[in-house]
Amino acid sequence: MKTAVIGTGYVGLIQAVGLAHLGFKVIAYDIDISKINALKRGNPPIYEKGLKELLHQNRERLFFTTSVEDLKDSEVIFVCVGTPQDSQGKANLNFVFSAVENLKPLLMGKEIVVLKSTVPVGTNRKVQQLLGDKAFVVSNPEFLREGIAVEDFFNPERVVLGFSENHPEWVREKMFNLYRFFLKKNIPFVVTNWESAELIKYASNTFLAMKISFINELARLSEKVGADIKEIARGMGLDSRIGNKFLNAGIGWGGSCFPKDVSALIWQFKEWGIEPKLPKVTKEINDEQIPWFLNKIKKHYGGNLNGKTFALLGLAFKPYTDDLRESPSLKLAELLIQEGAFVKGYDYVEGTRENVKKLVELKASTRHSYGLIVYDDLNTAVKGVDGIIIAVEYKEWNRENWKEFSKLVRNKAIFDGRNILERILVKKLVKEGWHYEGVGVNI
Ligand code: UGA
Repeated sequence: MKTAVIGTGYVGLIQAVGLAHLGFKVIAYDIDISKINALKRGNPPIYEKGLKELLHQNRERLFFTTSVEDLKDSEVIFVCVGTPQDSQGKANLNFVFSAVENLKPLLMGKEIVVLKSTVPVGTNRKVQQLLGDKAFVVSNPEFLREGIAVEDFFNPERVVLGFSENHPEWVREKMFNLYRFFLKKNIPFVVTNWESAELIKYASNTFLAMKISFINELARLSEKVGADIKEIARGMGLDSRIGNKFLNAGIGWGGSCFPKDVSALIWQFKEWGIEPKLPKVTKEINDEQIPWFLNKIKKHYGGNLNGKTFALLGLAFKPYTDDLRESPSLKLAELLIQEGAFVKGYDYVEGTRENVKKLVELKASTRHSYGLIVYDDLNTAVKGVDGIIIAVEYKEWNRENWKEFSKLVRNKAIFDGRNILERILVKKLVKEGWHYEGVGVNI
Protein backbone atom coordinates (compact mmCIF):
# COMPACT_ATOMS: atom_id res chain seq x y z
CA MET A 1 0.00 0.00 0.00
CA LYS A 2 1.40 3.40 -0.97
CA THR A 3 1.00 5.99 1.75
CA ALA A 4 1.80 9.69 2.02
CA VAL A 5 2.21 12.17 4.81
CA ILE A 6 1.68 15.91 4.49
CA GLY A 7 3.73 17.86 7.05
CA THR A 8 6.99 16.63 8.55
CA GLY A 9 6.67 18.15 12.03
CA TYR A 10 6.52 16.05 15.21
CA VAL A 11 3.37 14.20 14.18
CA GLY A 12 4.00 13.76 10.45
CA LEU A 13 7.60 12.71 10.71
CA ILE A 14 6.91 10.07 13.35
CA GLN A 15 3.94 8.81 11.32
CA ALA A 16 6.07 8.61 8.16
CA VAL A 17 9.02 6.87 9.79
CA GLY A 18 6.72 4.60 11.81
CA LEU A 19 4.74 3.48 8.75
CA ALA A 20 7.97 2.89 6.82
CA HIS A 21 9.19 0.72 9.67
CA LEU A 22 5.95 -1.29 9.45
CA GLY A 23 6.83 -1.97 5.81
CA PHE A 24 4.86 0.68 3.92
CA LYS A 25 6.25 2.89 1.22
CA VAL A 26 5.82 6.48 2.42
CA ILE A 27 6.12 9.78 0.60
CA ALA A 28 6.59 12.62 3.07
CA TYR A 29 5.80 16.07 1.77
CA ASP A 30 6.51 19.46 3.31
CA ILE A 31 6.60 23.00 1.93
CA ASP A 32 9.76 23.72 3.93
CA ILE A 33 12.69 22.98 1.59
CA SER A 34 15.31 23.14 4.34
CA LYS A 35 13.44 20.49 6.37
CA ILE A 36 13.09 18.20 3.36
CA ASN A 37 16.74 18.62 2.37
CA ALA A 38 17.85 17.81 5.91
CA LEU A 39 15.61 14.72 5.92
CA LYS A 40 16.99 13.59 2.56
CA ARG A 41 20.44 13.73 4.16
CA GLY A 42 19.11 11.64 7.05
CA ASN A 43 18.91 14.48 9.60
CA PRO A 44 15.58 14.92 11.40
CA PRO A 45 14.89 18.63 12.02
CA ILE A 46 13.67 17.80 15.55
CA TYR A 47 15.18 15.84 18.41
CA GLU A 48 13.21 12.73 19.29
CA LYS A 49 14.72 9.65 20.88
CA GLY A 50 15.31 6.86 18.33
CA LEU A 51 14.04 8.89 15.37
CA LYS A 52 17.33 9.34 13.54
CA GLU A 53 18.16 5.64 13.81
CA LEU A 54 14.73 4.63 12.53
CA LEU A 55 15.01 7.09 9.66
CA HIS A 56 18.29 5.49 8.58
CA GLN A 57 17.00 1.95 9.00
CA ASN A 58 14.00 2.57 6.73
CA ARG A 59 15.54 4.83 4.12
CA GLU A 60 14.60 2.64 1.17
CA ARG A 61 10.87 3.01 1.93
CA LEU A 62 10.94 6.74 2.72
CA PHE A 63 10.81 9.51 0.11
CA PHE A 64 10.93 13.17 0.97
CA THR A 65 9.60 15.83 -1.35
CA THR A 66 8.52 19.45 -1.65
CA SER A 67 6.57 18.72 -4.81
CA VAL A 68 2.90 18.03 -4.15
CA GLU A 69 2.57 16.17 -7.51
CA ASP A 70 4.65 13.37 -5.96
CA LEU A 71 1.67 12.54 -3.75
CA LYS A 72 -0.26 11.32 -6.80
CA ASP A 73 -1.13 7.60 -6.68
CA SER A 74 -0.86 7.44 -2.90
CA GLU A 75 -3.72 5.39 -1.51
CA VAL A 76 -3.82 6.74 2.03
CA ILE A 77 -2.71 10.31 2.67
CA PHE A 78 -2.19 11.55 6.23
CA VAL A 79 -2.63 15.27 6.86
CA CYS A 80 -0.28 16.13 9.73
CA VAL A 81 0.08 19.89 9.51
CA GLY A 82 -0.02 22.26 12.47
CA THR A 83 -3.21 23.77 13.88
CA PRO A 84 -1.73 26.60 15.97
CA GLN A 85 -3.70 28.90 18.19
CA ASP A 86 -4.87 32.14 16.58
CA SER A 87 -4.88 35.47 18.44
CA GLN A 88 -8.25 34.63 20.03
CA GLY A 89 -7.26 31.15 21.17
CA LYS A 90 -9.13 29.34 18.36
CA ALA A 91 -7.48 26.64 16.26
CA ASN A 92 -6.11 28.13 13.04
CA LEU A 93 -7.06 25.72 10.24
CA ASN A 94 -5.34 27.53 7.37
CA PHE A 95 -2.61 24.90 7.02
CA VAL A 96 -5.15 22.06 6.98
CA PHE A 97 -7.34 23.64 4.32
CA SER A 98 -4.47 24.75 2.13
CA ALA A 99 -2.96 21.22 2.29
CA VAL A 100 -6.32 19.73 1.26
CA GLU A 101 -6.84 22.31 -1.52
CA ASN A 102 -3.41 21.51 -2.96
CA LEU A 103 -4.07 17.81 -2.78
CA LYS A 104 -7.54 17.90 -4.36
CA PRO A 105 -6.51 18.12 -8.05
CA LEU A 106 -4.39 14.97 -7.65
CA LEU A 107 -7.15 12.79 -6.22
CA MET A 108 -8.98 10.20 -8.33
CA GLY A 109 -11.91 9.32 -6.05
CA LYS A 110 -10.45 6.18 -4.45
CA GLU A 111 -8.02 7.74 -1.98
CA ILE A 112 -8.40 7.98 1.79
CA VAL A 113 -7.45 11.34 3.32
CA VAL A 114 -6.73 10.90 7.03
CA LEU A 115 -6.76 13.93 9.32
CA LYS A 116 -4.17 13.38 12.05
CA SER A 117 -3.85 17.08 12.86
CA THR A 118 -5.80 18.05 15.97
CA VAL A 119 -8.88 19.72 14.51
CA PRO A 120 -12.05 21.19 16.06
CA VAL A 121 -15.34 19.40 15.82
CA GLY A 122 -16.85 19.65 12.35
CA THR A 123 -13.52 19.90 10.49
CA ASN A 124 -13.52 16.36 9.03
CA ARG A 125 -17.04 17.02 7.74
CA LYS A 126 -15.91 20.32 6.16
CA VAL A 127 -12.88 18.67 4.54
CA GLN A 128 -15.13 15.94 3.11
CA GLN A 129 -17.44 18.63 1.70
CA LEU A 130 -14.44 20.34 0.14
CA LEU A 131 -13.20 17.12 -1.43
CA GLY A 132 -16.65 15.90 -2.48
CA ASP A 133 -16.39 12.49 -4.15
CA LYS A 134 -12.66 12.85 -4.80
CA ALA A 135 -11.65 11.05 -1.57
CA PHE A 136 -12.90 9.55 1.70
CA VAL A 137 -12.03 11.50 4.85
CA VAL A 138 -11.10 9.63 8.04
CA SER A 139 -10.33 11.15 11.43
CA ASN A 140 -7.38 9.54 13.22
CA PRO A 141 -6.13 11.77 16.05
CA GLU A 142 -2.67 11.16 17.47
CA PHE A 143 -1.68 10.66 21.11
CA LEU A 144 2.10 10.81 20.85
CA ARG A 145 4.03 12.31 23.74
CA GLU A 146 7.03 14.37 22.75
CA GLY A 147 10.29 12.88 23.97
CA ILE A 148 8.93 9.33 23.69
CA ALA A 149 6.97 9.73 20.48
CA VAL A 150 8.69 6.87 18.62
CA GLU A 151 7.94 4.46 21.45
CA ASP A 152 4.35 5.75 21.61
CA PHE A 153 3.87 5.22 17.87
CA PHE A 154 4.55 1.49 18.17
CA ASN A 155 2.80 1.05 21.54
CA PRO A 156 -0.30 3.23 21.55
CA GLU A 157 -2.89 2.77 24.30
CA ARG A 158 -5.65 3.11 21.72
CA VAL A 159 -6.23 3.81 18.05
CA VAL A 160 -9.12 6.17 17.36
CA LEU A 161 -10.75 6.13 13.93
CA GLY A 162 -13.66 8.35 12.93
CA PHE A 163 -15.62 7.50 9.79
CA SER A 164 -18.68 8.91 8.08
CA GLU A 165 -21.84 6.80 8.05
CA ASN A 166 -21.71 7.19 4.24
CA HIS A 167 -18.28 5.62 3.80
CA PRO A 168 -18.26 2.30 1.94
CA GLU A 169 -17.10 -0.69 3.97
CA TRP A 170 -13.75 -0.97 2.13
CA VAL A 171 -12.63 2.37 3.64
CA ARG A 172 -12.80 0.87 7.14
CA GLU A 173 -11.20 -2.34 5.95
CA LYS A 174 -8.34 -0.51 4.34
CA MET A 175 -7.66 1.45 7.54
CA PHE A 176 -7.76 -1.77 9.60
CA ASN A 177 -5.40 -3.37 7.10
CA LEU A 178 -3.03 -0.40 7.33
CA TYR A 179 -3.06 -0.61 11.12
CA ARG A 180 -3.08 -4.45 11.34
CA PHE A 181 0.17 -4.27 13.36
CA PHE A 182 -1.79 -2.62 16.20
CA LEU A 183 -4.76 -4.97 15.82
CA LYS A 184 -2.41 -7.95 16.12
CA LYS A 185 -0.99 -6.43 19.31
CA ASN A 186 -4.55 -6.28 20.70
CA ILE A 187 -4.44 -2.53 21.07
CA PRO A 188 -8.02 -1.29 21.54
CA PHE A 189 -9.58 0.41 18.51
CA VAL A 190 -12.22 3.06 19.07
CA VAL A 191 -14.23 3.15 15.87
CA THR A 192 -16.66 6.01 15.84
CA ASN A 193 -17.95 8.99 13.89
CA TRP A 194 -15.93 12.06 12.91
CA GLU A 195 -17.28 14.29 15.67
CA SER A 196 -16.55 11.84 18.49
CA ALA A 197 -13.04 11.18 17.19
CA GLU A 198 -12.35 14.90 17.04
CA LEU A 199 -13.59 15.43 20.59
CA ILE A 200 -11.75 12.40 22.02
CA LYS A 201 -8.51 14.19 21.23
CA TYR A 202 -9.47 17.54 22.81
CA ALA A 203 -11.10 15.85 25.79
CA SER A 204 -8.03 13.69 26.47
CA ASN A 205 -5.57 16.59 26.42
CA THR A 206 -7.84 18.88 28.42
CA PHE A 207 -8.57 16.18 30.99
CA LEU A 208 -4.85 15.57 31.52
CA ALA A 209 -4.22 19.32 31.80
CA MET A 210 -7.12 19.48 34.28
CA LYS A 211 -5.54 16.76 36.45
CA ILE A 212 -2.33 18.79 36.61
CA SER A 213 -4.17 22.04 37.34
CA PHE A 214 -6.14 20.28 40.08
CA ILE A 215 -3.01 19.05 41.82
CA ASN A 216 -1.33 22.43 41.36
CA GLU A 217 -4.24 24.24 42.97
CA LEU A 218 -4.28 21.71 45.79
CA ALA A 219 -0.52 22.24 46.26
CA ARG A 220 -1.23 25.84 47.28
CA LEU A 221 -3.53 24.66 50.06
CA SER A 222 -1.22 21.80 50.96
CA GLU A 223 1.65 24.20 51.48
CA LYS A 224 -0.42 26.52 53.72
CA VAL A 225 -1.65 23.74 56.00
CA GLY A 226 1.60 21.75 56.30
CA ALA A 227 0.47 18.82 54.16
CA ASP A 228 2.62 17.24 51.46
CA ILE A 229 1.34 17.23 47.89
CA LYS A 230 3.58 14.33 46.86
CA GLU A 231 2.05 12.14 49.54
CA ILE A 232 -1.44 13.41 48.73
CA ALA A 233 -0.89 12.54 45.04
CA ARG A 234 0.34 9.07 46.01
CA GLY A 235 -2.62 8.55 48.31
CA MET A 236 -5.01 9.62 45.57
CA GLY A 237 -3.25 7.83 42.74
CA LEU A 238 -3.39 4.41 44.38
CA ASP A 239 -7.12 4.52 43.75
CA SER A 240 -7.23 2.96 40.29
CA ARG A 241 -10.26 5.09 39.45
CA ILE A 242 -8.06 8.17 39.82
CA GLY A 243 -4.72 6.76 38.63
CA ASN A 244 -1.28 8.02 39.59
CA LYS A 245 -0.32 9.70 36.32
CA PHE A 246 -0.34 13.45 35.69
CA LEU A 247 -0.60 14.28 39.37
CA ASN A 248 2.87 15.80 39.69
CA ALA A 249 2.56 19.31 41.04
CA GLY A 250 4.90 21.87 39.55
CA ILE A 251 5.14 25.11 37.62
CA GLY A 252 2.41 23.98 35.25
CA TRP A 253 1.83 22.47 31.84
CA GLY A 254 3.21 23.82 28.58
CA GLY A 255 4.18 22.57 25.15
CA SER A 256 2.76 22.67 21.69
CA CYS A 257 -0.43 20.76 22.57
CA PHE A 258 -2.04 21.33 25.97
CA PRO A 259 -2.13 25.16 25.82
CA LYS A 260 -3.55 25.33 22.31
CA ASP A 261 -5.93 22.40 22.75
CA VAL A 262 -7.40 23.63 26.06
CA SER A 263 -7.96 27.06 24.48
CA ALA A 264 -9.46 25.52 21.35
CA LEU A 265 -11.87 23.40 23.43
CA ILE A 266 -12.93 26.53 25.35
CA TRP A 267 -13.75 28.10 21.97
CA GLN A 268 -15.70 25.11 20.77
CA PHE A 269 -17.92 25.23 23.87
CA LYS A 270 -18.49 28.93 23.30
CA GLU A 271 -19.27 28.46 19.62
CA TRP A 272 -21.95 25.95 20.52
CA GLY A 273 -23.39 28.30 23.15
CA ILE A 274 -22.24 26.34 26.22
CA GLU A 275 -20.23 27.88 29.03
CA PRO A 276 -16.83 26.10 29.25
CA LYS A 277 -16.40 25.93 33.04
CA LEU A 278 -13.77 23.27 33.77
CA PRO A 279 -11.55 23.95 30.71
CA LYS A 280 -11.58 27.66 31.58
CA VAL A 281 -10.53 27.14 35.20
CA THR A 282 -7.93 24.58 34.10
CA LYS A 283 -6.30 27.30 32.00
CA GLU A 284 -6.68 29.99 34.68
CA ILE A 285 -4.93 27.90 37.33
CA ASN A 286 -2.11 27.17 34.90
CA ASP A 287 -1.73 30.85 34.03
CA GLU A 288 -1.36 31.65 37.74
CA GLN A 289 1.11 28.90 38.56
CA ILE A 290 4.37 30.50 37.38
CA PRO A 291 3.69 33.91 39.03
CA TRP A 292 2.74 31.97 42.20
CA PHE A 293 6.06 30.12 42.15
CA LEU A 294 7.98 33.32 41.38
CA ASN A 295 6.43 34.90 44.49
CA LYS A 296 7.76 32.05 46.59
CA ILE A 297 11.24 32.71 45.23
CA LYS A 298 10.87 36.46 45.79
CA LYS A 299 9.78 35.94 49.38
CA HIS A 300 12.98 34.07 50.12
CA TYR A 301 15.01 37.10 49.00
CA GLY A 302 12.97 39.63 50.96
CA GLY A 303 10.79 40.56 47.99
CA ASN A 304 13.61 41.81 45.78
CA LEU A 305 15.33 39.86 43.01
CA ASN A 306 17.14 42.82 41.48
CA GLY A 307 20.76 41.84 40.76
CA LYS A 308 20.29 38.23 41.89
CA THR A 309 21.57 35.40 39.68
CA PHE A 310 19.83 32.07 39.23
CA ALA A 311 20.75 28.79 37.59
CA LEU A 312 17.69 27.60 35.65
CA LEU A 313 17.86 23.81 35.22
CA GLY A 314 15.82 22.58 32.27
CA LEU A 315 14.67 24.89 29.49
CA ALA A 316 12.21 23.02 27.24
CA PHE A 317 8.57 22.34 28.21
CA LYS A 318 9.38 18.80 29.37
CA PRO A 319 12.36 16.39 29.45
CA TYR A 320 14.09 14.87 26.39
CA THR A 321 12.74 17.31 23.84
CA ASP A 322 14.16 20.39 22.16
CA ASP A 323 10.70 21.90 21.79
CA LEU A 324 10.52 25.32 23.45
CA ARG A 325 6.91 26.09 22.61
CA GLU A 326 5.03 27.42 25.67
CA SER A 327 7.88 26.32 27.90
CA PRO A 328 7.03 27.11 31.55
CA SER A 329 10.79 27.33 32.21
CA LEU A 330 11.27 30.12 29.67
CA LYS A 331 8.17 31.93 30.97
CA LEU A 332 9.68 31.84 34.45
CA ALA A 333 13.00 33.11 33.03
CA GLU A 334 11.16 36.04 31.45
CA LEU A 335 9.55 36.97 34.79
CA LEU A 336 12.85 36.65 36.66
CA ILE A 337 14.49 38.96 34.14
CA GLN A 338 11.65 41.46 34.50
CA GLU A 339 12.40 41.47 38.24
CA GLY A 340 16.00 42.44 37.48
CA ALA A 341 17.54 38.99 37.97
CA PHE A 342 20.09 37.26 35.71
CA VAL A 343 19.43 33.73 34.56
CA LYS A 344 22.03 31.09 33.71
CA GLY A 345 20.27 28.35 31.78
CA TYR A 346 21.16 24.70 31.26
CA ASP A 347 19.39 21.70 29.71
CA TYR A 348 20.64 18.16 29.14
CA VAL A 349 19.47 18.17 25.50
CA GLU A 350 22.02 19.88 23.26
CA GLY A 351 19.36 20.86 20.69
CA THR A 352 17.40 22.62 23.44
CA ARG A 353 20.45 24.63 24.47
CA GLU A 354 21.08 25.55 20.84
CA ASN A 355 17.44 26.58 20.31
CA VAL A 356 17.45 28.76 23.43
CA LYS A 357 20.73 30.37 22.39
CA LYS A 358 19.11 31.33 19.07
CA LEU A 359 16.09 32.73 20.91
CA VAL A 360 18.30 34.76 23.24
CA GLU A 361 20.20 36.18 20.26
CA LEU A 362 16.91 37.19 18.67
CA LYS A 363 15.67 38.85 21.86
CA ALA A 364 18.99 40.59 22.42
CA SER A 365 18.87 42.00 18.89
CA THR A 366 15.50 43.63 19.54
CA ARG A 367 16.03 44.69 23.15
CA HIS A 368 19.78 45.38 23.18
CA SER A 369 20.35 42.99 26.04
CA TYR A 370 18.56 40.03 27.56
CA GLY A 371 19.39 38.55 30.94
CA LEU A 372 19.56 34.87 30.00
CA ILE A 373 22.76 33.06 29.09
CA VAL A 374 22.78 29.38 28.17
CA TYR A 375 25.74 27.24 29.27
CA ASP A 376 26.83 23.89 27.83
CA ASP A 377 28.25 22.84 31.15
CA LEU A 378 26.09 22.42 34.25
CA ASN A 379 28.80 23.37 36.74
CA THR A 380 29.42 26.65 34.94
CA ALA A 381 25.69 27.38 34.98
CA VAL A 382 25.58 26.80 38.73
CA LYS A 383 28.75 28.75 39.55
CA GLY A 384 28.24 31.88 41.65
CA VAL A 385 24.43 31.81 41.69
CA ASP A 386 22.10 32.99 44.44
CA GLY A 387 19.76 30.08 43.87
CA ILE A 388 19.13 27.01 41.72
CA ILE A 389 15.73 26.69 40.08
CA ILE A 390 14.63 23.31 38.70
CA ALA A 391 12.14 23.91 35.91
CA VAL A 392 12.04 20.60 34.01
CA GLU A 393 11.38 17.19 35.57
CA TYR A 394 14.62 15.36 34.70
CA LYS A 395 15.23 12.62 37.29
CA GLU A 396 18.92 13.09 36.45
CA TRP A 397 19.12 16.18 38.72
CA ASN A 398 19.12 13.69 41.62
CA ARG A 399 22.33 12.10 40.43
CA GLU A 400 24.25 15.37 40.00
CA ASN A 401 27.13 16.28 42.25
CA TRP A 402 25.38 18.45 44.83
CA LYS A 403 28.54 18.46 47.00
CA GLU A 404 30.29 20.22 44.14
CA PHE A 405 27.34 22.59 43.67
CA SER A 406 27.67 23.56 47.39
CA LYS A 407 31.15 24.81 46.65
CA LEU A 408 30.17 26.56 43.43
CA VAL A 409 27.08 28.53 44.44
CA ARG A 410 27.08 31.88 46.25
CA ASN A 411 23.96 30.99 48.20
CA LYS A 412 22.66 27.49 48.90
CA ALA A 413 19.00 27.69 47.83
CA ILE A 414 17.02 25.27 45.67
CA PHE A 415 13.60 26.04 44.19
CA ASP A 416 12.34 22.76 42.85
CA GLY A 417 9.58 23.73 40.42
CA ARG A 418 8.92 20.08 39.57
CA ASN A 419 9.25 18.40 43.00
CA ILE A 420 11.74 16.13 41.30
CA LEU A 421 14.45 15.87 43.95
CA GLU A 422 13.97 12.73 45.99
CA ARG A 423 13.05 13.06 49.64
CA ILE A 424 16.25 11.39 50.92
CA LEU A 425 18.43 13.77 48.91
CA VAL A 426 16.41 16.82 49.97
CA LYS A 427 16.69 15.88 53.65
CA LYS A 428 20.44 15.43 53.25
CA LEU A 429 20.81 18.75 51.42
CA VAL A 430 18.77 20.61 54.06
CA LYS A 431 21.03 19.10 56.75
CA GLU A 432 24.00 20.41 54.81
CA GLY A 433 22.59 23.91 54.95
CA TRP A 434 20.63 24.21 51.72
CA HIS A 435 17.31 26.05 51.68
CA TYR A 436 14.81 23.89 49.77
CA GLU A 437 11.44 24.85 48.42
CA GLY A 438 9.21 22.74 46.23
CA VAL A 439 5.60 23.03 45.15
CA GLY A 440 3.26 22.19 48.03
CA VAL A 441 5.72 19.85 49.71
CA ASN A 442 6.47 19.57 53.40
CA ILE A 443 10.09 18.70 54.16
C1 UGA B 1 0.47 15.71 25.16
C2 UGA B 1 -0.33 14.45 25.48
O1 UGA B 1 0.19 13.85 26.67
C3 UGA B 1 -0.25 13.45 24.31
O2 UGA B 1 -1.06 12.31 24.59
C4 UGA B 1 -0.76 14.13 23.03
O3 UGA B 1 -0.66 13.30 21.92
C5 UGA B 1 0.08 15.36 22.77
O4 UGA B 1 0.01 16.25 23.91
C6 UGA B 1 -0.46 16.02 21.53
O5 UGA B 1 -1.57 16.52 21.55
O6 UGA B 1 0.19 15.93 20.48
P1 UGA B 1 3.07 16.36 25.25
O7 UGA B 1 2.65 17.73 24.79
O8 UGA B 1 4.22 15.71 24.59
O9 UGA B 1 1.83 15.34 25.07
O10 UGA B 1 3.42 16.50 26.77
P2 UGA B 1 2.98 15.83 28.15
O11 UGA B 1 3.87 14.74 28.51
O12 UGA B 1 1.54 15.54 28.15
O13 UGA B 1 3.27 17.04 29.16
C7 UGA B 1 2.64 18.31 28.99
C8 UGA B 1 3.04 19.26 30.09
O14 UGA B 1 2.51 18.87 31.34
C9 UGA B 1 4.56 19.38 30.31
O15 UGA B 1 4.88 20.76 30.43
C10 UGA B 1 4.80 18.64 31.61
O16 UGA B 1 5.90 19.14 32.33
C11 UGA B 1 3.49 18.92 32.36
N1 UGA B 1 3.16 17.91 33.39
C12 UGA B 1 2.93 16.61 33.05
C13 UGA B 1 3.02 18.31 34.73
O17 UGA B 1 3.20 19.49 35.07
N2 UGA B 1 2.67 17.37 35.67
C14 UGA B 1 2.43 16.07 35.34
O18 UGA B 1 2.08 15.27 36.25
C15 UGA B 1 2.57 15.69 34.01
